[in-house]
Amino acid sequence: MGTFVFCLYHFLSLFLIRFDPKLMLEKLRGKRLVFIGDSIGRNQWESLLCMLAQAVPDKDSIYEVNGSPITKHTGFLIFKFKEYNCTVEYYRAPFLVLQSRPPKESPPHIKTTLKLDQMDWNSVRWKDADVLVFNTGHWWNYEKTVRQGCYFQVGEEVKQKMNVLRAYRKSIRTVMDWVKNEVNITKTQVYFRSYAPVHFRGGDWRSGGNCHLETLPELGLISSVSREPWGEFVSMVADAAARRQGVVEVMNVSHLTNIRKDGHSSIYYLGGGAGPAPLHRQDCSHWCLPGVPDSWNHLLYAFILHHDMHHRTSS
Ligand SMILES: *[C@@H]1O[C@H](CO)[C@@H](O)[C@H](O)[C@H]1NC(C)=O
Ligand SMILES: *[C@@H]1O[C@H](CO)[C@@H](O)[C@H](O)[C@H]1NC(C)=O
Ligand SMILES: *[C@@H]1O[C@H](CO)[C@@H](O)[C@H](O)[C@H]1NC(C)=O
Repeated sequence: MGTFVFCLYHFLSLFLIRFDPKLMLEKLRGKRLVFIGDSIGRNQWESLLCMLAQAVPDKDSIYEVNGSPITKHTGFLIFKFKEYNCTVEYYRAPFLVLQSRPPKESPPHIKTTLKLDQMDWNSVRWKDADVLVFNTGHWWNYEKTVRQGCYFQVGEEVKQKMNVLRAYRKSIRTVMDWVKNEVNITKTQVYFRSYAPVHFRGGDWRSGGNCHLETLPELGLISSVSREPWGEFVSMVADAAARRQGVVEVMNVSHLTNIRKDGHSSIYYLGGGAGPAPLHRQDCSHWCLPGVPDSWNHLLYAFILHHDMHHRTSS
């Protein structure tokens, strides 16, 4: 009977509970919740800030600890909810692993390398957080790596022929190993939010791809998944997490996100006052808020409540 009730609770907590910002802030009291990844991770972080702010009447009591504005290119942003003495942080680390100078005497076309076996420098600031939410994927392509003169490196060796998917797998394993070796998982909950698909049609972000006329989710069967490289990303993350069972929880949002071709900022990314962007310069990667990233945070909320309950049950 106990097991039955527990399973039922588990089921309800993961799928049916309603987001309660006050309760989430209570769970985070005196704690640090840290998002790490690319700008889609920042999108999710911003979503969570908005969701939590609903429960705080005095908006001035929520502030960036260094006074930094929310802009695209800062290294990290730390918002404090004063009343709850908690912070919700975002660290920009699009690859998670370290991107830095190549070994001395590398040929000139090698401008930087991604050290697939070393974490980003900022990782020292992540390890003592109470909740970590990783994501990575949007920068793992030829355009944003090799084409820019950024090659893959393992140990001292630059692997000029290594393909992006193998490099991705290696980096994910590095993240999982780092968690195992550096993070106290009795204290810290670690989540990995899976890749959020993009929806450019008729081109990519540079060649006039668009999504501004999408007004409905994909309602039919989606047959294109197998053609998408992100299918590999999701399974690599799931496999790597399975090897380190119980250490990192994967938040598999890729498939549910894939149907939301209607949710992107498209031509509206310039913000209020600036008017729509030109039709050939659309953003079909990031998401409008409120919107799809809120659902990822609903899932995160359910995971955190569930973790808390389980923790109490077993202690
Ligand atoms: C606030 O939280 C931090 C941990 O993030 C803790 O070290 C500190 O003691 C807390 N301060 C108060 C006043 O509770
Ligand atoms: C890990 O975290 C737990 C809970 O906060 C704490 O009791 C324990 O001392 C920590 N272990 C180490 C090695 O720091
Ligand atoms: C992720 O979830 C979808 C359903 O939403 C499922 O079809 C897929 O197999 C899952 N992937 C992994 C790697 O767990």
